Amino acid sequence: MKIAVFVSGRGSNLEAILNSPKYGELFRVSLVFSDKSECKAFEIARKYSISSYSIGNKEGSKSYDEVIKIITDTKIDLIVLAGFLKLIPEKLVNLYSGRIINIHPALLPSFGGPGMYGMNVHSAVFNSSCKVSGPTVHFVDNSYDTGKIIAQKAIDINDVQSPEEIAERVLQVEHQILPFVVEKIAEGKIKEVNNRIIIEN
Ligand code: GRF
Repeated sequence: MKIAVFVSGRGSNLEAILNSPKYGELFRVSLVFSDKSECKAFEIARKYSISSYSIGNKEGSKSYDEVIKIITDTKIDLIVLAGFLKLIPEKLVNLYSGRIINIHPALLPSFGGPGMYGMNVHSAVFNSSCKVSGPTVHFVDNSYDTGKIIAQKAIDINDVQSPEEIAERVLQVEHQILPFVVEKIAEGKIKEVNNRIIIEN
């Protein structure tokens, strides 16, 4: 299975996918896209010799029409949004319907939607006095964070002292759950039954 990963910065989730024990056997990251012209994730892509492109209007960046051409020419099977902060255009979402997933650093459907990204999410969770948080992996539709949920893992945050501490704990679980979901998709073990997404063993 060929994957395109969309990132906006650090790329630690991209790296978690690249470090999966099933990497190379079940799936491979063929393309990395970012809305930034340079970011840590591009360094990771270079280290693994993965073609990477910046999306936008700046010189040397690709338009979404060009992105779609690169993705379809490369015969990408799955698009993974791993910390990508922009909304994907409808044209691409519709073309890859059911084949785009996103990782969100809170338990959806709470703490999602426009503006809910990065530390904004963890600050909202902290200030709500919520006792659990954790990542959600979901399919992408045409709005922010509303697609069907594939996997979630709740962790205890009862004793945290800051939003940063929540971010740190949630990130560790993101690095497990995202490669797990990618592996399950590659194995054909994610299905929709009775309007719910199920993961087979
Ligand atoms: C992660 O917390 C992801 O859930 C979020 O943005 C962060 C990206 O981190 N939406 P990284 O770029 O994968 O390190």
